[in-house]
Amino acid sequence: MTLATGRRYLMCRPTYFAVEYTINPWMDPTGAVDTALAVQQWETLRQTYLDLGHTVEEIPPLPGLPDMVFAANGATVVDGRVLAVQFRNPQRADEAPAYRSWFERAGFEVHDPKHVNEGEGDILLAGDLLLAGTGFRTAHAAHAQVQEVFGHPVVTLQLVDPRFYHLDTALCVLDNRTVAYLPEAFSPGSQAVLRRLFPDAVLASAADADVFGLNAVSDGRSVVLPVQATGLAARLRERGYDPIGVDLSELRKAGGGPKCCTLVIRGQETGK
Ligand code: ARG
Repeated sequence: MTLATGRRYLMCRPTYFAVEYTINPWMDPTGAVDTALAVQQWETLRQTYLDLGHTVEEIPPLPGLPDMVFAANGATVVDGRVLAVQFRNPQRADEAPAYRSWFERAGFEVHDPKHVNEGEGDILLAGDLLLAGTGFRTAHAAHAQVQEVFGHPVVTLQLVDPRFYHLDTALCVLDNRTVAYLPEAFSPGSQAVLRRLFPDAVLASAADADVFGLNAVSDGRSVVLPVQATGLAARLRERGYDPIGVDLSELRKAGGGPKCCTLVIRGQETGK
């Protein structure tokens, strides 16, 4: 386990959050969504990060973009370098330039995407490796660009369950050496790769994954995860992590959890 360090996160307040279309199996536009409650739950998540000593930057939400709260999909940021995103679905396309200009204005070197890639939803830094999901959203072809832009080895992981359509819904990086994941969300070959790379991984149960337990944010010590994922929290505690439960039930109606709401900004100075 590595020591927790102050992290820099980018978040987007869910002012215009709604479920207006269906681009993953969790989204039911006929169901009721309480936007005020979503904002409250999001505020609690933000405050949890602040209490842990992390910095939270905010990108202003835009009307007409109900999924913009899911900042993890806004970019991938490693070593101070940014790969901008290109969304699979037209409903989210206009989020890409908004996130792109936020990073440009903040002074980052921004690379344009050549293929569909949904940022940290599918591209996760684990130690020196970049784990890259494909199968539902990010195109396999994007993985080559990810490797070229960041100069970290990219490991392709094939997602097979539509409920776990982004890598960050099926796998959580706990620290530089370990991950937690739901084996059956991956193809047999990718499961073998994960066993080889992370023999000590925490294996999640279907019950934990079903409440988005793997959509968690770890700083190497504290793991912020949905409060409903009690089994996973217990496993993490046994392994020496400090699980912190938050309730994001409203945002789950769009297929999102804590990690989806959180983009990690990794500057040159903080390393990896
Ligand atoms: N409704 C959003 C979508 O389907 C949810 C995105 C969740 N983000 C994530 N990083 N998994 O695109």
